[in-house]
Amino acid sequence: MLKVAVFNLKGGTGKSTTALSLGAAMAGPKRRVLLIDLDGQRTLSFALGMDGQTPTALDWLTSSGLFTPLATSTKNLSLIPGDIGLFRILAESDLFTPALSRLAGFFDLVLMDCPPSLSVVSVQAILSSSRVLVPTLCEPAALRGFSEAIALIRDERPDMPIEALRVRYKPRLVLTRESDELLIESSVEMNYRLLHTVIPENIDVAESIAQQKSVLDYAPKSSGSKAYQSLAKECSKVWKVS
Ligand SMILES: Nc1ncnc2c1ncn2[C@@H]1O[C@H](COP(=O)(O)OP(=O)(O)O)[C@@H](O)[C@H]1O
Ligand SMILES: [Mg+2]
Repeated sequence: MLKVAVFNLKGGTGKSTTALSLGAAMAGPKRRVLLIDLDGQRTLSFALGMDGQTPTALDWLTSSGLFTPLATSTKNLSLIPGDIGLFRILAESDLFTPALSRLAGFFDLVLMDCPPSLSVVSVQAILSSSRVLVPTLCEPAALRGFSEAIALIRDERPDMPIEALRVRYKPRLVLTRESDELLIESSVEMNYRLLHTVIPENIDVAESIAQQKSVLDYAPKSSGSKAYQSLAKECSKVWKVS
């Protein structure tokens, strides 16, 4: 079971959107994918039309014994919904490693959608993960939050494999090209992989969240849907998931 934390210190960088659409694109007959909504704001759970359903991620982290995540409307894609109580978790002991080990054998890939902060939940999720996926916007202000996020992960785990994903990509802007150059330079310095696939700015992606669907279901032929499918192919290779 490959465990991937989807993290950035900044909000609005497409973490929840990416967890949903990448998860939907990677789920298949031979691959069981689990999404875990770790943000007390619960965007991912809303986007699946499953906010308010139980058992939640707080139940998962604070209980022991058998735990069954919820099935979503996408085959082989399950969810542990978010919970406002996640904001209050202050535990010093590692809640994630034992909670994740209870899911082993039932899933091939787990995507953990982290809150945009260095809370206990984010830190523990990152430390218990096999790798971290950091979606970022290609704008100078967003890149500062991105670099800080990478540095913080590197402080805790010098060897953690990190992939950076460019989202809401606007190829025609000079700003985007400048950001690309900075990202390529810093990927060498800070030892992370800049994924080739970029997710374009696409209205269908934004609308799909409001329609409580992944963009793959909402607008299968849209540029956003195609990009998330390419991303799934690239991640399958880089992550070596069967
Ligand atoms: N590729 C995209 N094109 C257009 N809008 C997007 C795209 N990706 C995300 N968005 C929009 O950006 C906002 C923030 O995305 P979200 O995934 O909630 O970010 P985060 O989880 O990092 O806070 C949402 O309103 C979403 O609909
Ligand atoms: Mg989010």
